[in-house]
Amino acid sequence: MCGIVGAVVAAGDVLPEVLTGLRTLEYRGYDSAGVAVLAGGLLEVRRKSGRISALEAELADRRLPSALQAVGHTRWATHGKPADRNAHPHRDQDNQVVVVHNGIIENFVELRAELEKEGVAFSSETDTEVIANLLARQLRATGDLHAALLGAIDQLHGAYALVAMAVGHEGEMVAARRDSPLVLGVGAGGRFAASDMPALLHLTRDFLFLENGETCVFTAESHRIFDAAGKLVSRDLAKCDWTPEQAEKGGYPHFMLKEIEEQPDVLARTAFDRFRDSTGDVTFEDGFQLTDEDLRRAARLRFMAMGTSFHAALLGQQMTAELARLPGETLNASEFLYSPRLAEETAITVIISQSGETADSLRAMREVKERGGTVIGICNVQGSTLAREADHLILTHCGPEVGVASTKAFVGQLTALYLLAIRIGRAREELDLDKGLALLRDLRAVRTQLDPLFEPETHVAIRAAADFLAPKSSCLFLGRGLLFPVALEGALKLKEISYIHAEGYPAGEMKHGPIALIDTDFPVVVVATPGRAYKKTLSNMEEVKARGGRLLAVACREDEKVAALADFILPVPSVPELLAPIVNVVPLQLLAYETALVLGCDIDQPRNLAKSVTVE
Ligand code: G6P
Repeated sequence: MCGIVGAVVAAGDVLPEVLTGLRTLEYRGYDSAGVAVLAGGLLEVRRKSGRISALEAELADRRLPSALQAVGHTRWATHGKPADRNAHPHRDQDNQVVVVHNGIIENFVELRAELEKEGVAFSSETDTEVIANLLARQLRATGDLHAALLGAIDQLHGAYALVAMAVGHEGEMVAARRDSPLVLGVGAGGRFAASDMPALLHLTRDFLFLENGETCVFTAESHRIFDAAGKLVSRDLAKCDWTPEQAEKGGYPHFMLKEIEEQPDVLARTAFDRFRDSTGDVTFEDGFQLTDEDLRRAARLRFMAMGTSFHAALLGQQMTAELARLPGETLNASEFLYSPRLAEETAITVIISQSGETADSLRAMREVKERGGTVIGICNVQGSTLAREADHLILTHCGPEVGVASTKAFVGQLTALYLLAIRIGRAREELDLDKGLALLRDLRAVRTQLDPLFEPETHVAIRAAADFLAPKSSCLFLGRGLLFPVALEGALKLKEISYIHAEGYPAGEMKHGPIALIDTDFPVVVVATPGRAYKKTLSNMEEVKARGGRLLAVACREDEKVAALADFILPVPSVPELLAPIVNVVPLQLLAYETALVLGCDIDQPRNLAKSVTVE
């Protein structure tokens, strides 16, 4: 999705800071990039389709003057194909106003027609150029940049986060947000706006989060936030505990590999401060206010999310059913609006999102709240929309996740869901103290049990499997029970970054269709660690083998039965069944990574994908 940076400083040249911010936003997925500066009473723009390096080459050829204020943008095409003319920033036709924008303006066709009637000539196919011209028209009428912004956004239907500046308003910038993320960074020598916090960590760790419908006026020394009605809002700064280093590769060839290897720490950071081995109580921070009584009263739990978080949601439902005996359902958040309306008063809905900005998940959250339901958000980004709007919050402490293919967020989410299931189980007296303590001890032990997955021996095994998989065009992933969502996640990782077609199936379903695909050499990845479905999974492996299919199995190191059947073993340590998904997903993430590496794919920024999908 598009990324935005805007910055105004009291001294120096701000452009390099904006470019650093843009590079941090690369992870969101983009096809073009651009910057604009306001200096000496002139707006100047440079923009290029392709990578930021193409923009930098353009900037080396056609230098921009030193400036105290600038905007920058990485574009993920929605209106108009990737091309220089469609790249942001966009100006009005008189070159008086410049805008960067993330979102979709739904009524842009009507607005554009209206402006064209007034004689405005457009040079791009974007909805954003419409905003620039609306803003310029308002500015001519009012002479006040903030009033012009209010007048312009009043005409917009749809989602936007935008930052603008204008000739004649040097030193001033304006920003607005509705349904697309935008944060304001407050530093010693300047004020900054961006799509997310990592883009500004090199400048500040003090942030303000704009709420939906709010606008902001900022200079290097001051900022004012206004609500949707135009009333001044006072808001405290929030300190971000992420460091700039966490958003860097730190010597790894790819963010994805770094993030996979961070998973033991993610588990520890997300869990270990939240329980005591002595008392067995799980406590979340102040953002989580549900009492034991509230948890006892709930008649069902609903889990909703998208992508990798959806796979975590499927597992959350199973964990809570098992540990708290609470019935549940899991919905893809984008499907919620079309599902039957059930009583919300007796339900609790858990919305899971790494970014806290996924449009479908936010839409589902707001709909649940409107219907009178209670929402627990599980989220990795402090200050994100989900974190702010959910009734109750459990933060996963993964640190910034940069690789587009989500990895450590999944392990953070499973850890949080496991704790939540224990918390509910204890509140509902389905778990006694001893059982609760044992479950928490199991979780603590997993932290070190993950270590062998990063040793050379495991790497050799995974690399051999990846070499085998790389030339294939299609692949099945199978698992049963708790291991079915792991199969789904393994398939998602492979297709996301290697572009090999991969499908996750419940192993029992294989005979009802997918088996038709299996012929000699067809690869089938089976998640086959011990548990209630183990024997049946072995039978499914036999069925694949009988048809000449090739088996890659996630299995315990010492498992001879699986070893006798499989062509490749992705070895994992043996852990309690409820925690096996946390362990089993790791070799599948590594398998996808190694396969993409063999194929020479762009691992951290796979084609067409965006890290955070902020449109429905
Ligand atoms: C995008 C990302 C996925 C992610 C999904 C949900 O599709 O590419 O990696 O799982 O969004 O994101 P969220 O931030 O809500 O977890």
